[in-house]
Amino acid sequence: MKENFKLDIRQRPRRLRKSAGILDLCQETRVLPSDLILPVFLKEGKSGAEAIPSMPMVSRHTIDSLMRVCEAALRRGVKGIAPFPMVDPAKKSLRADEALNANSLANRAIAAVKRNFPEMSIFADIALDPYTTHGHDGILDKDGRIINDETVEVLAAMALVAAQSGADFVAPSDMMDGRIGAIRDVLDDCDFSDTGIMAYSAKYASAFYGPFRDAIGSAPSAAKGNARRGGKGGRPKEGESGGKAKYLDKRSYQLNPANSREAVREALMDEAEGADIIMVKPAGPYLDIVAKVKDAVTLPVAAYQVSGEYAMILAAAQNGWIDLERAREESLLAIKRAGADMILTYFA
Ligand code: PBG
Repeated sequence: MKENFKLDIRQRPRRLRKSAGILDLCQETRVLPSDLILPVFLKEGKSGAEAIPSMPMVSRHTIDSLMRVCEAALRRGVKGIAPFPMVDPAKKSLRADEALNANSLANRAIAAVKRNFPEMSIFADIALDPYTTHGHDGILDKDGRIINDETVEVLAAMALVAAQSGADFVAPSDMMDGRIGAIRDVLDDCDFSDTGIMAYSAKYASAFYGPFRDAIGSAPSAAKGNARRGGKGGRPKEGESGGKAKYLDKRSYQLNPANSREAVREALMDEAEGADIIMVKPAGPYLDIVAKVKDAVTLPVAAYQVSGEYAMILAAAQNGWIDLERAREESLLAIKRAGADMILTYFA
């Protein structure tokens, strides 16, 4: 190399990375506590929280310990929660009747949070899987296929009960056709015009939900239905597994991970049917979908960093393979940078 080697260039982007102060000034995206919604798992009983093995540092809470979670979250600036109940197997049924019980664990929790922390926004999960014996998000016909319209009728009734319990938003996570419009109609007819809908519009049939199904206890009963393997071609039957039998196969309603245009279609339909917030889920492996959906709709876009994304980061960090804080921050920044206005994350 020759002495005093000097490039003849005018553009030196590194000038903007010269110091921490300059880096800060040039930072395009930031994740704030107020961008986050905390998903929380619920269990019956009085005794305190209970660990979930596949989700280190995440617990199942009783309604009592949920109050402490809310207080801590609000103190740190997290202003939204999304409760998910672990339902007593004795209360599960083929038609998910417990989903309509105003006194269910989920609805009691919603009411308790609203009573004690009116400033906390509650996003109530609307789906039948915690309540069905088979673990699917809908009602099955005699051949084991999900009946769309009948399921939507139950979902709309479930949404109304959640709204009556005090939910600020109902969040249908089932992926049935037409549910957003049906829920909007029922809420409006019953004077809940101010209750919003956060639509899980682009929810993929993802392997990253594994730890969640453990957390709410929908996997074990569900696993039985996976014993028979599907024939080739055609629409997959509910309960048929493409691979290992531990988790339910939801490919007849959740989106195919290979598709992106279909996600945009679902988002536009939900926007037209009256959704208030559009969600993409999972988040990290679907950043292209977050970006496309953000371009296509005018509503705020949420992304759900799901249990498997969380568990992967935690597992690697616990092995000393990655730095937990930095990986957490980077994973959330990437989701926000892709276009998410808000993020559901267990890191909240
Ligand atoms: C089901 C539901 C799932 C999640 C939220 N609601 C899992 C599924 O579709 O089986 C997953 C969330 C997560 O993995 O963190 N209605």
